[in-house]
Amino acid sequence: MKKVTKAVFPVAGMGTRFLPATKASPKEMLPIVDKPLIQYAVEEAVAAGVTDMIFITGRTKRSIEDHFDKAYELETELEARGKKELLEIVKRTVPKGVNCVYIRQSEALGLGHAVLCAAPVVGDEAFAVILADDLLDNHGAEPIMQQMVGVYNYHRCSVLGTMNVPREDTRQYGIVSTDSQQGNVQRVTGIVEKPKPEDAPTTQAVVGRYILTPHIFDHLRSIKPGAGGELQLTDAIASLLKEEAVLSYQFQGVRYDCGSKLGYLKATVEFGLRHAETGADFAAYLAARA
Ligand code: UTP
Repeated sequence: MKKVTKAVFPVAGMGTRFLPATKASPKEMLPIVDKPLIQYAVEEAVAAGVTDMIFITGRTKRSIEDHFDKAYELETELEARGKKELLEIVKRTVPKGVNCVYIRQSEALGLGHAVLCAAPVVGDEAFAVILADDLLDNHGAEPIMQQMVGVYNYHRCSVLGTMNVPREDTRQYGIVSTDSQQGNVQRVTGIVEKPKPEDAPTTQAVVGRYILTPHIFDHLRSIKPGAGGELQLTDAIASLLKEEAVLSYQFQGVRYDCGSKLGYLKATVEFGLRHAETGADFAAYLAARA
């Protein structure tokens, strides 16, 4: 049985909601406490058994390549100063046995276009897509992509990570309709991008985790630009599900929308409170302010 071994990380967006921080540096390099968002995403992929990380990069994304490269000078310097713990942290950034591939998306033509850029490297196998600005906190359960790989291994079809959102927020998400309301795995019967609350068929939203069969590439090649003039992954999934089963998986965990300022701040507080180095002092600080 072929396993999911490749993950695509689209990191070529403009990140306009975080300007000016994202003017010369990608949003995925913003740290939550001391780790950039993209590293949380790569660690989640590694936990799911992924070995090939395919980054779809754009302008100002060089720092991501540098982050996952060996840092010879820094390692030599830390070694010379006897900073063993820091040296280990730096070395662990790229887990052993992991390959990183970088593909340039020359124009930000949409998430669908970004995923299509990965086609030559993905080839004819199912693959994961992880949006690093959606930080998913598994709260002691298996990391979310690992949960989804379990669903894929059982059903052998595309799986979308979903969660329920307040109705007034549907216009921020792709919203799915499903064939049942039972359990946490359901067959998707329809998907629409960013519907108005009054038009949304349900409140079950797709967040930035997907496992897709390679047939998605045919659909990405044939769809026309959709909302915002961008090639929408949602539209390609809508077309895919006319031909084959697509599942919605309501994952166990909490999602932080780190592409928005408020979501980013919430994640910073939660992860800061449980960080071994800062947790106790940060909790005391917050309590004193309350
Ligand atoms: P977003 O919708 O969050 O857009 O993209 P954005 O440009 O990154 O951010 P804002 O809205 O301007 O603040 C969702 C994901 O798709 C990637 C982004 O990097 C992000 O991970 N993306 C989007 C691409 O890789 N290429 C694109 O052309 C568009």
